[in-house]
Amino acid sequence: MAKKQMVIDLSLNTRISDIFFLKNVEFRVRRDKKTIDMFFKIADKTGEIEAINWDVSKDKVEELGKIEFARVQGYITKKKSDGILQATVSSLIKTAPLDLDYSDYLPQSKENLDELMHKIFSKINSIENYHLQNLLKSFFDDQEFTQKFKKAPAATKVHQPYLGGLAEHTLKVADICEAVCKIYQEIDHDFLITMAILHDIGKVREYAYEKTIEHTDEGKLLGHIAIGLEMIDQKIKSLDNFPKDLALMTKHTLLSHHGHFEFGSPRLPSILAAIALYYADELEAKISGFINIKEENKDFKEKWSKWIWWLERSIYLDEEAILKNKINEIEEE
Ligand SMILES: [Fe+2]
Ligand SMILES: [Fe+2]
Repeated sequence: MAKKQMVIDLSLNTRISDIFFLKNVEFRVRRDKKTIDMFFKIADKTGEIEAINWDVSKDKVEELGKIEFARVQGYITKKKSDGILQATVSSLIKTAPLDLDYSDYLPQSKENLDELMHKIFSKINSIENYHLQNLLKSFFDDQEFTQKFKKAPAATKVHQPYLGGLAEHTLKVADICEAVCKIYQEIDHDFLITMAILHDIGKVREYAYEKTIEHTDEGKLLGHIAIGLEMIDQKIKSLDNFPKDLALMTKHTLLSHHGHFEFGSPRLPSILAAIALYYADELEAKISGFINIKEENKDFKEKWSKWIWWLERSIYLDEEAILKNKINEIEEE
């Protein structure tokens, strides 16, 4: 069933009438200890909006709490000072999942994913080290893996939390590593680029991204570093004569790529390529995360964003406006 109305099309007083994904559902009991209100978000690939379904009958709470996709009727009734819209919903009718095209509901990369994958394949083909190219091909010659990799998000929040995010992030990390190799000839190009491409492969199993983007049980219990290590170990065992020491370096670089024990790495980077990969990954994730915040705040009227928990700061939003004015002033002179 094709979706006609998207979250991005909604503004104050718009009538809502289409199928949306329901998330963060919460029921709150009012002070009279009887009336129950349902707070949630309605979402699709273009964004999400806060919604309230006032005075829900007690018998319906269980049923409503389980709904994933629903035909939503209501209005956008409030625009908060920070630009966030709020909907008052009058009717929610559960929709059969089989009737839906899920790609309408999950946020997606703006990049052309076929092009991104093509660039990743070119990097794989540029690897001259026989064993490292074999290792990469053992993953990327497998159609099933490649399809999953192409679709996977890079995260559920923070940086590239959308379909195609992993391919976008991986290519950017590999591009940063190419630049690093040009500056520091001491770093082995083939090893660093191989590890840049493989460092987050565990994310294809850490996240579920069919209907919603969330952690799998395996992701919650093991995380992508442990999953990635297992995936690499299996492949290395299936390859003929993969050198033992090279296998250790490969595993070490994957294990240490978060750079600190408290960020989930059981070992700290102890080889040149590993320290380079850690900083390349950190640089890419932070810059993409910043870009993400700026994008989300583009209609926000304040100079400073709200507090960003993962950065432990607010970010200054006037940067572009100031820089653009400076350029115009110079041109006018
Ligand atoms: Fe990672
Ligand atoms: Fe990463």
